[in-house]
Amino acid sequence: MASENIQGKPNYGIDAPGLLRFFFIAGAVALTIFLVTLCSSTLGQLIKITGTVVFGTAAIYLLGMGCLMLYSSKAMKLKDREKLLDLVQWSGSELVLDVGCGRGLMLIGAAKRLTSGKVIGIDLWQQQDQANNNSDAALSNAEAEGVMERIEVKTADMRQLPFLDDLFDVVVSSWAVHNLEAEADREKALDEIIRVLKPNGMIILSDIVYQLEYAKYFELRGMVNIRFYNNAIRDVILKTVTFGSFAPSAVSAYKNV
Ligand SMILES: C[S@@+](CC[C@H](N)C(=O)[O-])C[C@H]1O[C@@H](n2cnc3c(N)ncnc32)[C@H](O)[C@@H]1O
Repeated sequence: MASENIQGKPNYGIDAPGLLRFFFIAGAVALTIFLVTLCSSTLGQLIKITGTVVFGTAAIYLLGMGCLMLYSSKAMKLKDREKLLDLVQWSGSELVLDVGCGRGLMLIGAAKRLTSGKVIGIDLWQQQDQANNNSDAALSNAEAEGVMERIEVKTADMRQLPFLDDLFDVVVSSWAVHNLEAEADREKALDEIIRVLKPNGMIILSDIVYQLEYAKYFELRGMVNIRFYNNAIRDVILKTVTFGSFAPSAVSAYKNV
């Protein structure tokens, strides 16, 4: 039985905790140097101006990126989840797969839309991808959200899904496939998703990069009704401040009959 969430509140965790730590530590160091430079009475005028501009800018950028990461894990993803799940015409009896479910964000969101259906989440529970990532955390969140009887979690690699062909009505995945660094691995994961999806079944693949690559591959593999979902203004801002490395959006597609 899951043991977290004594307060009964779900905790969907923080993504890429190592990177988040880096931004806050490096930001704090830059801020300290900025303040020391600013208050120094021994530094020459030119060094003082250069130091305050450089370290002040670095501190704002690094701490801002840390705050952006926190906001995206704690708020942006939850809002996006509901919008993405609204794309499915739920009957309530679907069999759903969440690929790279982590602490259960999509898994539980989908389970809340079901009556007699079920959601299975698979993951390798990599700690570098999500803080305190484990199956107990997902189960504990499901318990807190009251959907325990409609979910199941399994340890599995998305490149080798332990399911029969043509099984799931809907496959969802949030911010998980990009963790496969090689394009060939990401294609393997997409092949597996397509394999386990029923004809006419729907995939909703949300990620922070590679969305165009996924759409092109879906087309290559004969998927139909391929659509993009993004917030154009948010996209431009995030791509600019993160140099193109972080712009969450989603692709949906259907398996051809
Ligand atoms: C950033 S987390 C996102 C988790 C969850 N989908 C969410 O949106 O909160 C990425 C997840 O992908 C999982 N993951 C990475 N590579 C995987 C693989 N090859 N097979 C299965 N899961 C994987 C990680 O363990 C992690 O839980």
